[in-house]
Amino acid sequence: MLKKVTICIAGLGRAGHFHLRSVQASELFTLKYIVDPALSVDDLQVDQNVEVLSTLEEALTDSELDAVIVSTPTPHHYDHITQSLKVGKHVFAEKPLGTTVSEIQQCFDLAEEKGLALHLGFQRRCDQNFQALKESIQEIGPIRTIKTSSRDNPQPSLDYLRISGNIFHDMLIHDFDMLIYLLGLRVPESVYAIGYAYDQEIGNLSDFDTVLVTLKYPDGLMCAIDTSRIAVYGYDQRIELFGEKGMAIAENQRNDTVQVLTEAGMRQSPVQHSFPQRYQDAYAREVEIFGKGILNQQFYNVTREECLLSHIIADAAHQSATTNSVVNVAQMYNSCV
Ligand SMILES: NC(=O)c1ccc[n+]([C@@H]2O[C@H](COP(=O)([O-])OP(=O)(O)OC[C@H]3O[C@@H](n4cnc5c(N)ncnc54)[C@H](O)[C@@H]3O)[C@@H](O)[C@H]2O)c1
Repeated sequence: MLKKVTICIAGLGRAGHFHLRSVQASELFTLKYIVDPALSVDDLQVDQNVEVLSTLEEALTDSELDAVIVSTPTPHHYDHITQSLKVGKHVFAEKPLGTTVSEIQQCFDLAEEKGLALHLGFQRRCDQNFQALKESIQEIGPIRTIKTSSRDNPQPSLDYLRISGNIFHDMLIHDFDMLIYLLGLRVPESVYAIGYAYDQEIGNLSDFDTVLVTLKYPDGLMCAIDTSRIAVYGYDQRIELFGEKGMAIAENQRNDTVQVLTEAGMRQSPVQHSFPQRYQDAYAREVEIFGKGILNQQFYNVTREECLLSHIIADAAHQSATTNSVVNVAQMYNSCV
């Protein structure tokens, strides 16, 4: 039985940095490698025992290595996940696992075949506000409508956006996963989405920066999600559940809750700047759960079906927004599970 998990972080960009903080703060891990072709050891303030490599293959030859955190750019995920699982390493991967249903299925097939952990970076599941929101459902449910606002800040670079998949697979996938987390594995009947690129350069990538998505469920439940790549006032993430017996709202987080009222009006501190601040605790918790999962053989934090459903909703919403039509999600989901 492992006592500590010897780990490698592949990709040390925005996501890699918050995973590095989480690994360093945890007693469950020994960090052995950081893999990033754009880094040299001088760029880093890490323990001398940590080796900086430029390819994951080099780290994977080490039989002492137990696990890999994959936070490389999205187009590399499938290769890095499958390479790691094939040689017996547990994997924590940033979203998405792959860019197609078949790639996602293969990741789960491999993890199951090898008896290895495969955790997915849907950190909102580890956020205490959303956990409390989920608990409220027994008091206020059954739920009739859900409204989510999900606005990023600052806008990611064009280099990032170019290879991110699209706003549905890169950003809204978190919101679709939140619906699954809150509601359980309930498959929407249909989705209708509209989008616009206020930023011409994003439009040139055939992507949107602002999107509205509506989802309809067979029992009448309706969900509306609005999302934007940029919100100048800070990272904006709110969910409202409206149910037969009441309403529950998860509000934004601020550095303090003080409101100052004068004859000039009212002011309060802004919402948090971006996701590393908003989800700092959740990022730490998800990596801790991964470490404990390896030690206690709890190999998945998101099931295959849940992962496929969020992917398919993202595909269906993208199809809806680009064809201006209502898309049957249930049919798409049933044909792939
Ligand atoms: N869960 C979240 O909240 C969240 C937030 C941001 C990003 N992400 C995900 O994390 C992933 C990375 O996004 P990011 O914003 O950190 O991107 P980024 O561009 O900031 O960082 C990517 C890093 O990977 C490195 N890299 C490129 N090719 C590599 C290779 N072959 N091997 C090792 N390293 C390589 C780059 O040099 C860069 O440092 C994306 O898939 C994204 O979807 C998730």
